[in-house]
Amino acid sequence: MVNFVNKKYQVITYGCQMNVHDSEKISGILETMGMSKTDDLKLCDVIVFNTCCIREGAEDRAYNNIMALRELKKEKPDLIIVVCGCMPQQKEGKYDFKKKLPFVDIVIGTYNIGMLKSYLTKFDIEHRKIYEVFDKPISNVEVLKTVRDDDKNAYVNIIYGCNKFCTYCIVPYVRGRERSRDLDEIVQEVKCLVDKGYKYITLLGQNVNSYGKDLQPKTSFASLLNTLCKIEGDFKIKFMTSHPIDFNKEIIKVMAKQPKIAKSLHLPVQSGSNTILKAMNRRYTVGHYLKLINFAKKKIKNISLSTDIIVGFPGETDKDFQDTLKLIKKVKYDQVFAFMYSKRTGTPAAEFENQIEEKVKKKRLNTLLRTQKFIQTDNITKCFGKVYNALIRTDSGVTVGFTDGGREVYLPSDNVTDEIENTFQNIRVETIRNHKLSGSIIKGKK
Ligand code: 5AD
Ligand code: SF4
Repeated sequence: MVNFVNKKYQVITYGCQMNVHDSEKISGILETMGMSKTDDLKLCDVIVFNTCCIREGAEDRAYNNIMALRELKKEKPDLIIVVCGCMPQQKEGKYDFKKKLPFVDIVIGTYNIGMLKSYLTKFDIEHRKIYEVFDKPISNVEVLKTVRDDDKNAYVNIIYGCNKFCTYCIVPYVRGRERSRDLDEIVQEVKCLVDKGYKYITLLGQNVNSYGKDLQPKTSFASLLNTLCKIEGDFKIKFMTSHPIDFNKEIIKVMAKQPKIAKSLHLPVQSGSNTILKAMNRRYTVGHYLKLINFAKKKIKNISLSTDIIVGFPGETDKDFQDTLKLIKKVKYDQVFAFMYSKRTGTPAAEFENQIEEKVKKKRLNTLLRTQKFIQTDNITKCFGKVYNALIRTDSGVTVGFTDGGREVYLPSDNVTDEIENTFQNIRVETIRNHKLSGSIIKGKK
């Protein structure tokens, strides 16, 4: 392969929104080199695996899928396979890529993804395997082109890394310390995306609420939100992920005041037991968390709440788990992302002696999911008669209003004129049948 023009690629992504967005940047790099995306792996000249190591399951999935390419590589020796992201970045990862995956050509970590073009070019000339994992960020490499997968929602990084060191979590070890992006750069990117017609801008970071603490002059997440809301256009801002220790009333007040901020909040609680929160090094209590939630519910009408929960953390007793169930019943989340604790080598909790048996973890996960299903069903019935600001979209003659919390409300298509299509409008939920919501647009009110 002398140059990459007209070559085909695929990027395979594991893990969180951060990784999804990194993959959009990787696609941008490859397309700037002249390549184009294909859905057919067999047609690929370059395949990139952007990996995740948050839980063992994610690692195993990626490893097995990379392994499955061994045959294709034999058939097509010119195929270039790249593995990047969080798995290679781990110091004591489960899989040693050098030893276990000799047919992979380029292995890089999380900090040098922006240099992919130079690695591919070097490999193309020298045909020697590249294994380069830096142990700290070189600089925040902002990529010139991003190929976004979604035409409605665009991700924008605002902060990289995490300083929190929750005892179960590998992220601080593979993503480094918190680094906020320059405010003007973020504003420019958001302006550009709004001009392009994106309706939702999702601000990304492991802990977005820490934004600006490391900048000169210092600024805050609440202030960033206010600045972004001054950008003209019909769009909304979402953000993830928040941390209950840095998320605060000031941010809630900004969310309540600014119509351009989506009325949805993802606030990971992890556990409903103070003992477990302490062992997790989460640095807050259930009481503190509930105060924030209650304040948000009071200030923001019809707010949609979601959370992350880990079951089976070392030492979690039945009583601790029951406290978690109590908490989800109290908050009544619209969505709960629940995970069984997964031991991550190099994190403190992996060394804790009171590990929980897999079958207990599974049982607790199932109980939690069942409980949450009831809550969700109940939440749906409570939508009746409520008014939501929603994005109106018509597809194949069917008009849907998408609420900030991600609910779909079916609307009569004759309600929808060209001026209304693809704009945010207030809608009222008027019927609920088989968990399906229908309603109509409240005319003249936005
Ligand atoms: N095991 C299980 N879940 C984990 N998470 C992070 N680390 C682990 C782990 N070792 C979950 C947390 C976090 C989400 C992104 O993943 O709930 O909020
Ligand atoms: Fe991991 Fe905790 Fe940082 Fe979130 S806040 S990325 S769970 S260490």
